[in-house]
Amino acid sequence: MSLTWTAARSSGLHGLLRVPGDKSISHRAIIFGALAEGPTHVSGFLEGEDTLATARIFSQLGVRIETPDAQSRIIHGVGLHGLQASAAPLDCGNAGTGMRLLTGLLCAQAFDSVLIGDASLSQRPMARVINKLEAMGGRISAREGNYAPLHVHGGQHLRPVEIDTGVASAQVKSALLLAAMYAEGESVITEPRPTRDYTEAMLKSLGWPISYGPRSIRIRGGGRLQGGDIRIPGDISSAAFFITAALLIPGSDITLENIGINPRRTGILQALRLMGGRIEVFNEREQGGEPVADLKVRHSALKAIELPESLVPDMIDECPIFFVAAALAEGTTHASGLAELRVKESDRIASMAAGLRAMGALVEETPDSVTITGGRLHGAMIQSHHDHRIAMSFAVAAQCAGGKTLLQDCDNVATSFPGFVDLARSAGMILE
Ligand code: S3P
Repeated sequence: MSLTWTAARSSGLHGLLRVPGDKSISHRAIIFGALAEGPTHVSGFLEGEDTLATARIFSQLGVRIETPDAQSRIIHGVGLHGLQASAAPLDCGNAGTGMRLLTGLLCAQAFDSVLIGDASLSQRPMARVINKLEAMGGRISAREGNYAPLHVHGGQHLRPVEIDTGVASAQVKSALLLAAMYAEGESVITEPRPTRDYTEAMLKSLGWPISYGPRSIRIRGGGRLQGGDIRIPGDISSAAFFITAALLIPGSDITLENIGINPRRTGILQALRLMGGRIEVFNEREQGGEPVADLKVRHSALKAIELPESLVPDMIDECPIFFVAAALAEGTTHASGLAELRVKESDRIASMAAGLRAMGALVEETPDSVTITGGRLHGAMIQSHHDHRIAMSFAVAAQCAGGKTLLQDCDNVATSFPGFVDLARSAGMILE
């Protein structure tokens, strides 16, 4: 399917906005709810294609999941050893999180499984999880040793390990944690830089023996998870498009409600503030163990920055929209430590550089950095590369550009942000 959007200059964003639930937490709610004993009630679930794919997979594995209403799920957990083999392959769609976490879980099961994905996911590196899981005794066959389809061989005896993820990746870390739950004894998992800790937090809240700090986790195998309530906050990655648009478009003044502000996710707020963005965080509270707040954002004159490299893992999915801010800020912005962007749903450095150049920006790239000189943008024909975050980033850029912008291949926006166009239009974006 190929979906094209048309976008043009907006005269300001206004209103009280709510974005859909956090994608990372929604995947994990299904996974850990399924492995728990007793029912788990989930609210704020993201009804996106990625997380629906994960829910479908657990139905195939024998888990009953009810949908009492939109954004709610009741997961009837089957316990750690209650999953059943699926005769059909398990389709993760576009979701790297689904595929990598499930590889960790499935290599610890008694049965074999096959994981497949769409064209984009089938080009994304899986050796980063396969190699580490093999060090624990897992057995996984992949196309060229690196790509889906993945044949995950069950019936292996997993060993506890002391292991470093080797890359700042919450997906790799979480795959190892899922496998370590089935290994006899204690595993110690470290990571080169701290990444989102939702897996650790959810395991702890459902009663698993785990202790963790930044960059290091100790987890024991052979525990039990007790079903409970999981309340999922709004996804800061989805909010980031509206935050940046409101900063950039003169006259804007918006409030975003119920946004997750886990410190491992708020790099984008820090980066935009360094640029001069007026973002107020208020009503800070805790919801289901996660920090949540409302955000007020007003138009601000943004200036270029040297992005601190330490912020990159905490805003890894927000780099594309940050590049849009840089392309409209005063001066030249430089960001490095970005190599991971090349292996996302598309090569996000290449996708953003090509689109921003088409709109008139000056962009230089190296394998792991970008330099962007801000200025005026004009409308253009943009290729989204079937990447949801590229499509939404350019939808925002077009709000600040002279003339009309055509955005091609926007279909995958539904993976993370169903309803984006309607919400954007209701707030004042010119988009159809
Ligand atoms: C995610 C981790 C990040 C992020 C992705 C979601 C997760 O990926 O980009 O959108 O839910 O653990 P990496 O682990 O590859 O950095």
